[in-house]
Amino acid sequence: MQKGYFGKFGGMFVPELLMPPLLEIEEAMNTIVPSESFQAEFNSILMDYVGRPSALYRCPNLSERLGFNLWLKREDLNHTGAHKINNALGQGLLCKHMGKSVLLAETGAGMHGVATATAAAMLGLECVVYMGATDVVRQSHNVRRMGLLGATVVPIESGTKTLKDAINAALRRWIADQRTTHYCFGTAAGPHPFPTLVREFQSVISREAKAQFMKKIGRLPDYVVACVGGGSNAIGAFHEFVPHSEVKLVGVEAAGTGEPGCHHSAPLNLGTPGVLHGAMSMLLQTTEGQIEPSHSIAPGLDYPGVGPEHAGLQDSGRAHYGTINDAQAYNAFMTLCRSEGILPAMESSHAVAWVLENAASIPKDSHVMVCLSGRGDKDMDIIEEYEKKFRK
Ligand SMILES: Cc1ncc(COP(=O)(O)O)c(C=O)c1O
Repeated sequence: MQKGYFGKFGGMFVPELLMPPLLEIEEAMNTIVPSESFQAEFNSILMDYVGRPSALYRCPNLSERLGFNLWLKREDLNHTGAHKINNALGQGLLCKHMGKSVLLAETGAGMHGVATATAAAMLGLECVVYMGATDVVRQSHNVRRMGLLGATVVPIESGTKTLKDAINAALRRWIADQRTTHYCFGTAAGPHPFPTLVREFQSVISREAKAQFMKKIGRLPDYVVACVGGGSNAIGAFHEFVPHSEVKLVGVEAAGTGEPGCHHSAPLNLGTPGVLHGAMSMLLQTTEGQIEPSHSIAPGLDYPGVGPEHAGLQDSGRAHYGTINDAQAYNAFMTLCRSEGILPAMESSHAVAWVLENAASIPKDSHVMVCLSGRGDKDMDIIEEYEKKFRK
């Protein structure tokens, strides 16, 4: 396969000025990351600081009701409350090993921003986080957390004021500051080597899950289900299972309100191939190639593009990508709260919802793993607003 490509998707569609730092990261990914000393340091941080391995938990009440075994890979229990910390600490450590002093990040839901601010504080690095002004308002709790951790949050007022605009602004800043700064990309998208680097740090999810399933049930699960924004928790949850064709891989995109013609965040289902943020992938775009606005009740899924490896997995037929709308995600959120005492992130609720909505077609006694990518404490205002609007 061509370097940095997943089938026909991927690549490095960037201005010339970005090639030197990208090639520097590629070199570091190939030499520093596999070294014994980096791996030992990273694994010790994951264990003692993040709290890994994360639990693989069988939901007793929902399993009983559904007639199959529903397992949650509890990334919500990680320090800072989501899978994002796996990648932020990996890249933070790499930044130090590369001799740089500043971690630059974009964030949508704020979880990657919090994770990067945490990694920076812990590793003694400076941290700057770019965030769309709309997201600054709807995830204000996370903005306060980043401030407490010592990060500078820069609100972005351009475009739709969400994740894609934050990435545009962060890439521009990186061009100017590349000597001192590492761009800690938060998802498995963007130009090569980011999709591969982020997958490398997130695949701890499927590595652990595989071993945990072998120990608990003596075989691999029948389904692995994960929500897809840019695609990092999903690729992390899929990676070790990709060679095992008996394991069905299901990614879940956000269908927005689900009304005809509404804005959504489902480029794999409803987009077309094109280039965004340095990679060829599936996109929401006009026939002229202008990026269309996206929407989801879950800020972390609100992105018009997707990581190129998912586009490749869809193209090859190895993974299937479904959609879930805001109301279905809200219902799944409430179901998990009330049935299992677990408050999931709105992003992760999309993955839970796919299982609930498709339960009738899942064979009895199957083993279904959902990657519970984060906890829902950050989403209290969103839930309250949704209930005011739709649950009078
Ligand atoms: C809890 C949670 N889950 C999922 C996502 C989606 O990102 P990704 O597709 O990279 O996993 C986010 C993004 O912010 C998130 O905060």
